Amino acid sequence: MTMQIERFESKEVLYTRALEIIKQVKAQGATTFGLATGGTMEPLYEKLRQSDIDFSDAISFNLDEYVGLDVQHDQSYNYYMHKQLFDCKPFKMSYLPNGLAENAEAEANRYEQLLQQHELDFQLLGIGVNGHIAFNEPGTSFASETHLVDLQPSTLEANARFFDSIEDVPKQAYTMGIQSILRAKVILLIATGEKKRAVLEQVIAGEYTENNPATALVKHNNVIILTDLQEGEN
Ligand code: GLP
Repeated sequence: MTMQIERFESKEVLYTRALEIIKQVKAQGATTFGLATGGTMEPLYEKLRQSDIDFSDAISFNLDEYVGLDVQHDQSYNYYMHKQLFDCKPFKMSYLPNGLAENAEAEANRYEQLLQQHELDFQLLGIGVNGHIAFNEPGTSFASETHLVDLQPSTLEANARFFDSIEDVPKQAYTMGIQSILRAKVILLIATGEKKRAVLEQVIAGEYTENNPATALVKHNNVIILTDLQEGEN
């Protein structure tokens, strides 16, 4: 088991390092990339857009998608990915859950099957203030695969900043399960800002509890954590 923790004083240096890791993984032959959304990833996608990286021979899978938002909705994760990355750096094929699917169970199964047919060489991860990874909220089984979730109030609140009001935040989402995420060969977790400190420090301390979904990572054998949080400060 290896969990490599790198702490940065400067976000600029942190994101430069994240770009370097992705380039390295790709140069080593990775062809299937798990991608993430959220504010944390925006500076990284900017760096990828400005880089010479070419994903046209690679496949991407996103972690999650809101239920009920059309792909054209500016808060859908499909829209986010196009704006942040795909329009500039297209992949050979990009998969996201379909937020408008009529049958939730069938959609979750479809996505999970696709994932199982394409082993993830790399997975990018953010972390929620409650420790969620993708949209796996506290209490989710570490054995979970792709499924439909009811978002917790703290997640609706955290994501309300992207919508006109909290009532507009979808109450449900599709998400890769924790097991689906853990199957990736290399996982890169980026956690920035004081709000993430408590949940991140539990991961770094090696705790392992379904109350903090991100702690599932402690059993993975190749996790890199990049953070701007310094040890022992608060
Ligand atoms: C969102 C996403 C997660 C993301 C997390 C943190 O709701 N579903 O994949 O990692 O919450 O988001 P942010 O980077 O905006 O803090």
